[in-house]
Amino acid sequence: MMSRPVHGGNLAWAAGLAHCAPAELLDFSASISPLGPPRSVRAAVQADFLSVRDYPDPAYGDLRRAIAHHHKVPIESVMPGNGAAELLTWAARDLAQMETCFCLSPGFSDYDRALQAFGCVSTKLPCFNASNWQESLLGQSLDLEQCGLLLNNPHNPTGMLFDREQIRSVLSRVGLVVVDEAFMDFLPPERSQSVIDWISEFENLVVIRSLTKFYSMPGLRLGYAIAQPKTLKRWQTWRDPWSVNTLAISAGIAALQDTKFQRQTWDWLAAANRQMYKSLAAIPELSPLPGCVNFFLVACEKSVTALQENLLKRHRIYIRDCMSFEGLGDRYFRVAVKMQDENLRLVRAIADVLPHLPEASDVI
Ligand SMILES: Cc1ncc(COP(=O)(O)O)c(C=O)c1O
Repeated sequence: MMSRPVHGGNLAWAAGLAHCAPAELLDFSASISPLGPPRSVRAAVQADFLSVRDYPDPAYGDLRRAIAHHHKVPIESVMPGNGAAELLTWAARDLAQMETCFCLSPGFSDYDRALQAFGCVSTKLPCFNASNWQESLLGQSLDLEQCGLLLNNPHNPTGMLFDREQIRSVLSRVGLVVVDEAFMDFLPPERSQSVIDWISEFENLVVIRSLTKFYSMPGLRLGYAIAQPKTLKRWQTWRDPWSVNTLAISAGIAALQDTKFQRQTWDWLAAANRQMYKSLAAIPELSPLPGCVNFFLVACEKSVTALQENLLKRHRIYIRDCMSFEGLGDRYFRVAVKMQDENLRLVRAIADVLPHLPEASDVI
């Protein structure tokens, strides 16, 4: 039996517990949009399939131009990568040069993987409301000019959105600030708190984006970093020249140009998010946090590992336990927002199994 996964979306592990094929699972564990991949992306990948015969353009000119156009930034400030995960690794190499790197807790576990690869042990900032991480950071006795900060906005796993002015206030004090905006595109432009447009102003700011979640293409691996050219030129000397494949280039260009798909996603999410929050909050043992994007962190009075196992065995539904998130343990789970009928199936299944489960244990 495989050990409990540290990321969501491990269908092989879940299918083993559910005794079914991975395709038969209803997967709420990975926060991927149910609308994608967009038709435009499928068409582009099919049309450009034979590009796999060539090495990708190591300068990624067409893709970088499309990203630069999308965000209205200079092309020299853009670097595509093999998922946000690859770019987080290079950001971690820079962060590891600082006296310490502050990270939010709970937070995405891959940050520690990347930092530890370069010998850096992070210092945690508590993050259970929108402002306590900032108070804790500014109250540190260390010289913040010599420190790094790796933030995630909107925040995984809580779903909180930090006001970008909060980030501005730390940018002038902290030596290097990396903002992972992997979920920011789920917010329509009028609600976005992206700091991409501050790149030319702050040499110590790096923003990382992912096409995985919004365009539903985790298997293709595409993300990008936006930063001042000096930073990106340094990263370029460290990495494999072809880390983004030719099909991901075609997919990325098509995705960023697909304004119809973007609008559809914002419309779907506004309604589905409201509905799902209401349904989860109506179950007495559950307290969902009011998330702003396509997932919810939910506090549960019953054991979440038992809930996860029962949902798999009895309903073939896969939720994300929070055992790999510091401080959450057996008392929280995270679920993606999917189509309304699927969300309803989840809520009914939870209501069905909860009464039979033991109380949450204190194992964290
Ligand atoms: C906050 C956050 N950042 C980055 C990533 C990695 O994204 P990618 O698939 O682009 O590597 C994830 C994936 O779960 C994530 O949750």
